[in-house]
Amino acid sequence: MTAMTNATIVGFSGNLARPSKTRGFVEHFVNEIAGYHGLAAATFDLDDVGPTLGAARWTRDLDDTGRKVLDAVVGAEVLVVGSPTYKGSYTGLFKHFFDLIDPSALRGKPVLLTATGGGERHALMVEHQLRPLFAFFEALVLPTAVYARDKDFRDGVLASEAIRKRGEQSIEEAGLALASRRHAAAEDFAPSPTTIADRPLLARVDPSPLV
Ligand SMILES: Cc1cc2nc3c(=O)[nH]c(=O)nc-3n(C[C@H](O)[C@H](O)[C@H](O)COP(=O)(O)O)c2cc1C
Repeated sequence: MTAMTNATIVGFSGNLARPSKTRGFVEHFVNEIAGYHGLAAATFDLDDVGPTLGAARWTRDLDDTGRKVLDAVVGAEVLVVGSPTYKGSYTGLFKHFFDLIDPSALRGKPVLLTATGGGERHALMVEHQLRPLFAFFEALVLPTAVYARDKDFRDGVLASEAIRKRGEQSIEEAGLALASRRHAAAEDFAPSPTTIADRPLLARVDPSPLV
């Protein structure tokens, strides 16, 4: 864990071992976004969730440590997720962690997708594996997902200028999503799906005639 658990930007990495390129990669995005927008930040990985994760069938099966990580992820204003690529996908325990989360708990939350892998072959893992998972949650998945290979890191730190540039694009998208959420909250515009669904239909359409 890097910081407080009431953070507004939270990173979650599916690495099984430390030191981890993926955790560092996730933390890079978390710190950039937090620094730029003056947000409190925290990054967690599977180790932080602790030993109760593997056998947990429900959130209540996690101990306090694991529960705090899960609550931080669910409570984040912006979420950065990342996983090392294992057999062409995210790690099994990464998925298991998200399996414990209520299907509606991440609805509308801006989520920045990242992944690392040994080479280029599975670079679309972010699109074909991570994106559908967070689409299931009806999260606001940012358009630019970022993947880096082992050789894009030097001593565990991102060293590729090209990946850094691509990352800037997603950091900008996170800023836009954050601003729009805050604007909506301030204006009581409330674009959350629940509120929209609660509005009468006529309030959502342009009442002027088409002619
Ligand atoms: C069990 C296992 C399976 C892996 N499968 C893949 C894979 O399918 N594709 C790939 O590109 N890299 C694969 N890798 C390499 C890791 O994804 C890569 O080294 C990653 O950056 C490690 O991240 P970490 O430093 O956070 O642990 C695999 C590594 C392990 C240990």
